[in-house]
This record gives sequence, C-alpha cells and structure tokens, in this order.
Amino acid sequence: MDNFIFYSPTEFVFGRDTEAQTGALVQKYGARKVMIVYGGGSVIRSGLLARVEQSLQEVGIPYCMLGGVQPNPIDTKVYEGIDLCRKESVDMMLAVGGGSVIDTAKAIAAGVPYNGDFWDFYIGKAVVAEALKVAVVLTIPAAGSEGSGNTVITKVDGLQKLSLRAPSVLRPVFAVMNPELTYTLPPFQTACGVADMMAHIMERYFTNTKEVEIGDRLCEGTLLAIIKEATTVMKDHENYGARANLMWCGTIAHNGTCGVGCEEDWASHFLEHEISAIYNVTHGAGLSVIFPAWMTWMTEHNVDKIAQYAIRVWGVADSADKKTVALEGISRLKTFFTSIGLPVTFKELGIENPDIDRLA
Ligand code: NZQ
Ligand code: ZN
Repeated sequence: MDNFIFYSPTEFVFGRDTEAQTGALVQKYGARKVMIVYGGGSVIRSGLLARVEQSLQEVGIPYCMLGGVQPNPIDTKVYEGIDLCRKESVDMMLAVGGGSVIDTAKAIAAGVPYNGDFWDFYIGKAVVAEALKVAVVLTIPAAGSEGSGNTVITKVDGLQKLSLRAPSVLRPVFAVMNPELTYTLPPFQTACGVADMMAHIMERYFTNTKEVEIGDRLCEGTLLAIIKEATTVMKDHENYGARANLMWCGTIAHNGTCGVGCEEDWASHFLEHEISAIYNVTHGAGLSVIFPAWMTWMTEHNVDKIAQYAIRVWGVADSADKKTVALEGISRLKTFFTSIGLPVTFKELGIENPDIDRLA
C-alpha cells in the first residue's frame, strides 16, 4: 500500500425530505447570496426546485438562478454563470441536479475570483487557489461529483472535454441526498449512472499497487451492492431501499474511499471523455463500451487482478488458466450491462464508424 492522505470533508445529509434542510445548511456554511444552478428542467417538473427555493426563503437567504445546463456541460454556460455571479455578488454555488450541473457550478466557483479565463485551470495553465463554496442537492447517483473535488467541462470550440481536480477548494461543503428524488430518472439514465459508478470503482481497483486488501474488499463489496441494487431498481423504479443503497454507492465510488493507498488508472475515463466530446454520448454509456474493451486488452498486463475480480465479483470458478477466468468475468460484466439496457459496442452506442484517429 502507498502512503496517502485521506481528507473528504463534505457533509452528506441523506434521506427522505432532506431537501427541506437546504436553507439551514446554506446558512450554516455562511452564504450571503446563492446562485442555484440547474439543468434542462427535470427539477422544475418534479417540484424540487420550488422546494429548494422555499427552503432558502424560509431562512431569508437571497438567490439568483442559472438554468439550462446540458449533459456533457459546456464552457459557454460557465462564462454566463461567472458573469452573473459577479454582477449579483454571489458567494455560494448551489447545484440542484446531477454531475453536469455540479461540474458547471464548480467551474463557475473557480472562475469567479480568477482574473483570467477559467479554462486555464483545465489546460493546466493555472492552479485554482480560491473558489466560491459549492453545495449540492443531488438528483442522480452517477458522477459522484457531490463528493469529489473534480469537474469535467467541454470546450465547444475544438470539442475538448477535460477534467480538473482541485479537491481542497472544489469539494462540496454539503450534499443533500434524497433517494426519492431519483424515482423520476428514466431507466437509461439510471443504468448509465450504474456504469459510471462501477467505472469509478474499477479505475481504482485495477491498480499496479500491491497489498491493498482493504481497498480491494471495499471495491468488491461496493460493486456487489451496485449490481444487486441496480437489478432491483431496473424492475422496481420506486424501491426506496434499492434507490438509497445505489445513491450512497455512487458517492462511495468516487469520494476517494475506494482508492486510498493505491495508484489509480483512469484510462477508460480519459478515452470516454473524447467519445463524449465528439459524439455527445452519455458518459455512462460510453463507459459501458470502453471499460470491458480496456479490460480485455489489460488481460495481457495484469491478468491476476482481473481474474480476482472475476472470481470475487462475478462468481467465476478459479482455475490455473487465469486468462480464461478473467475473460469470463469480463463477459459477465458485459452481460450485466446489456441486461440493464446499456451498449457494449460502438455500434450499439450509435456510432457506426468511430473516427479512431481523431479520438486518439
Ligand atoms: O438536465 P435535466 O433536465 O435535469 O435532466 C438530466 C439530464 O438530462 C437528467 N436527470 C438528472 N436527474 C434527474 C433527471 N431526470 C429525471 N429525474 C431526475 N431525478 O439526467 C440527465 C443526465 O444528467 P447529468 O447531470 O449529465 O448526469 P450525470 O450525473 O451522469 O453527470 C454526467 C457528467 O458528469 C461528468 C461526466 O463526464 C458528465 O459530463 N463526470 C464528472 C465527474 C466528477 N465531477 O467527479 C466524474 C465522472 O467520471 C464524470 O466524468
Ligand atoms: Zn465517470
């Protein structure tokens, strides 16, 4: 196991009706003016946005709004948000939605105090020294952005989708997580979230670092929980217990817990980000194509770890032929993805002739 520092200070407020506590939490973290960021309208249709507004009004915290964040969020919305925040003297971003909304809020939070182009942070030209506080009301378990210090934005000009890691300033101060808010998710979005959280665990699990038994067991246990609860949720959309477990799995998958003490990989994510940028596919659906393919290729490099995964997560029988064991595990992963309605080939993703040169 490698040396590590684990510091993951987000306050998670989890359970039914917890969105009613948003105003009190905003107050607790010292906000004087809030910008609510949301997406294409699901939070309006569900009534969540109105409930969050009411909660802010009850504690007398003023707010402004920035709606219309799209999946695979883009830089133009970030520039719009930075301008509005400066004009309105906002000091806390409140993201009400999923990863795209949260990541946009984080990018704005970093951009407001910076005397330059926020994109500098994403291309490594500048380091985020300070940011507005970020808080979250989560509506989809997937990206894990509610507990991560990362943000992923696409620059429209040039179609570059890049991630920025700045946990000391961008990790949300609090995240409200009510599993009932996820009942309205379309099945495909639920499934994409499942693939994404599994990928977040597997990017950490398939490590070259030895002697990470605690990390391995946390990863395997969380994967087993995801597979079980995803299967339930796909049949029974309003099963509170399964939705609740899945929601917490999404956070555990990406707040650092599963990767302590090991060298992480993230190759599949970087490959997928190019696919999302160019073909605008849903992140989780891109991952369900990329991850099994990457694992197949990696059987040449670290067959023992993939065989361990096959045995412990997918119940494949052990044998001296580790490659066959590993390939059977990958096959079972693909069968699972297919069973919850996810693509496992470019064609199923709707890309007939992927432009591999451009992606590379
Ligand atoms: O925009 P609205 O109308 O809200 O609809 C959204 C959107 O269409 C919908 N949705 C969300 N909650 C809903 C709902 N529909 C009905 N009921 C609800 N309760 O779902 C769609 C997808 O939303 P999005 O925010 O894009 O989903 P997700 O959370 O999967 O975020 C994906 C983004 O996160 C990035 C991805 O690259 C992608 O851009 N990631 C961010 C990470 C991070 N910051 O740490 C890590 C991840 O690896 C990932 O890369
Ligand atoms: Zn992801």
